[in-house]
Amino acid sequence: MDTLKFNTDVEKSVFEEVFKDIPELIKTKCGGYDELYGYKLNPEDEDKANVEKYYREDVAKGIVYKLCKAYKFERSEIISNFISIMRWRADFNPLSAAFLESHDKELQEVGILTSYPAESANKKIVTWNLYGQLVKKKHLFEDVEKFLRYRIGLMERGLRLLDFNDESNCYMTQVHDYKGVSVFKTDGAIKKCTKQVIHIFQKYYPELLYAKYFVNVPSFFGLVYDVVKKFVDAETMKKFVVLSDGAKLGRYLKSCPKTPYGGSGEKKTLQQENFTDVRPTEYGQFILERSSNQDID
Ligand code: HEM
Repeated sequence: MDTLKFNTDVEKSVFEEVFKDIPELIKTKCGGYDELYGYKLNPEDEDKANVEKYYREDVAKGIVYKLCKAYKFERSEIISNFISIMRWRADFNPLSAAFLESHDKELQEVGILTSYPAESANKKIVTWNLYGQLVKKKHLFEDVEKFLRYRIGLMERGLRLLDFNDESNCYMTQVHDYKGVSVFKTDGAIKKCTKQVIHIFQKYYPELLYAKYFVNVPSFFGLVYDVVKKFVDAETMKKFVVLSDGAKLGRYLKSCPKTPYGGSGEKKTLQQENFTDVRPTEYGQFILERSSNQDID
């Protein structure tokens, strides 16, 4: 598998040890919750028919490798973070946010998912957040939980289009378009939501972001950028590119729409490109059905 690359024998053995530990960790530390980004990780499940039907070792390895990379092949770090990611998923139910729940129409309109198969590595799947359009809709940030469920839903639908065994499509790219933001006074509700989303992405979605573009950011917003940066770790910061002119995005993301982003896409607007028909993985569907049956019980 071309996604598994080790710099040293130590890295390889840490990966193998962690991979071997997963079934026991799921059973004893994660309350039996066995799902990450829509995939099954435990091949030692007592329900052999489920293993047969849903477990794919190559995908499980691709995902565990990502965790190893995220935590620099330090075994105890990988394990403690794995446990907290799984517990968070068991509690938050991100698959439901992505595939079952309906979100506020005004939020849905500013979250776009595009797929550019011909784009360069790890820029094929892009989530767009047209946050500039929300500057006058502060009410949307008041219910943090509601906003989070919408935003995580978009993230998970994007992850569904990645391939954890394909080196050129195992990360996603994100764009924030701040067009429409003329004067920006740090609003309490927006700041609170922003902080929480950043926190969740950093803690529970490691090693999934390839690049993040902030476009239509007038230079006098440097101050806002400086404030938000404080919540973000240094590794993530390196992936950020801020562009004051949105039409220059095409230099970095060639396949994006020509208007207004300066890419090569002439036929469709961003909204027409929006990939809305994303379905959960087969296993994700199974987990969702099982959890809604439990709710009914
Ligand atoms: C992150 C909203 C203005 C820079 C975020 C996030 C939200 C948000 C919800 C969470 C991360 C995500 O959803 O991907 C807004 C709104 C704004 C605004 C509603 C004004 C209407 C700005 C401005 C800048 C900025 C003017 C300056 C460049 C950032 C940065 C992050 C961020 C650097 C961190 C991204 C990350 O860690 O992935 N913003 N923002 N924001 N925003 Fe804004």
